[in-house]
Amino acid sequence: MKKVIECNYRLLDCGEFEKLEQIGEVIIRRPALQATWKQKLGNDIWKHYHAKFDQAKNIWTNVPDGKLPYFEFNNLTFELRLSPNRQIGIFPEQLINWQWLREVISQATRPLNILNGFAYTGVSTLISSTKGTSLTHIDASSSSVNWAKQNCRLSNLENNNIRWIVDDIITFLSREVKRGSVYDGIILDPPAFGHGKKGAIWKIGRDLPKLMKLVDKLLSNNPEFIILSCHDKNYKHHELQDELIKLQRLKNGKIETIDLTIESETGNNLTAGKCARWKK
Ligand SMILES: C[S@@+](CC[C@H](N)C(=O)[O-])C[C@H]1O[C@@H](n2cnc3c(N)ncnc32)[C@H](O)[C@@H]1O
Repeated sequence: MKKVIECNYRLLDCGEFEKLEQIGEVIIRRPALQATWKQKLGNDIWKHYHAKFDQAKNIWTNVPDGKLPYFEFNNLTFELRLSPNRQIGIFPEQLINWQWLREVISQATRPLNILNGFAYTGVSTLISSTKGTSLTHIDASSSSVNWAKQNCRLSNLENNNIRWIVDDIITFLSREVKRGSVYDGIILDPPAFGHGKKGAIWKIGRDLPKLMKLVDKLLSNNPEFIILSCHDKNYKHHELQDELIKLQRLKNGKIETIDLTIESETGNNLTAGKCARWKK
C-alpha cells in the first residue's frame, strides 16, 4: 500500500510564464518559463500574493513582513528563503522522486550507503536519511550546505549519519574513486550550468558523461537505486535513460523515465524537468 504524502505545498495555478504557489498560509508568485499557456484562475486571485519575483527588475518586489512558513514534508521541516535567483529552497517538481525515494529506502533490508550530488538544501538527503543509512551530501555552494544543515537540525536528524561536503562534484567523486568508496544508492540532479568550487564551471552537456563514468566506478556490487534528473529542456528522456543503461552494475531491475510534473487543482500542471531512475 502506498504511504500517504503529507506536505503543505500547493501549485494554485500557472500560465503566462508565471506560477502561483502556496506554502502553508503564504502565497508566492514567481516566473515559470515553461508555462506558455493561459492562466486559469482570474486576476482577482493572482493579485493576492505575499511575495512576488519581478522578472523585469530581477528582484523580489514584495517580501512578507514576518518569517516565511516552513515547507513540511511528512515529518521533515525545511526553511524557505527568497533567494536572488528566484528560488525558494525547494524544487517541488521533485515530489514524485521524494515519494519514490521514501518507498525504496523503507523497503531496503540492509544499511545503505547513499550519495546525493548537487544536493542544494538537502530535501532528498533528509528524506533518504534513516537510522540505517549513511548519507554523503555534496554541493559546491557552502551557503547551500549550511542551509541543508539547518534543515537537518529543524527536522531533528542531527544524530543521523550524514557527511556534509562542500566541493565540486567531479573533484570530489574522482577522489572517492581513488579511495575505493562505493555507494548503494545515488541521487543526481545536475543543473544545466553551475559553479563548482574555486571557479570550476559545470556544464551539463560537457560534464555529464565524465560524471557518469565516475558514477559507474562508485556503484557497489549490489546497488539499490539511482536517480538522474535534470531541468535542462534540451535533455530528452532517452538521453538520461542512455546514461543509466551504460552503468555496468545495474544488471537486473528496471529503468523508468518520468516527467517531473507538479499537479495543480486548476489542471494547469507544470512539467519542470525530466528524470530516469532505476531500482533493483
Ligand atoms: C538544481 S539545484 C539541485 C536541486 C536539488 N537536487 C533539490 O532537489 O533540492 C543545483 C545545485 O547544484 C549545485 N552545483 C552546481 N554546480 C556544481 C558542481 N560543479 N559541483 C557540485 N554542486 C554543484 C548548486 O550549488 C545547486 O545547489
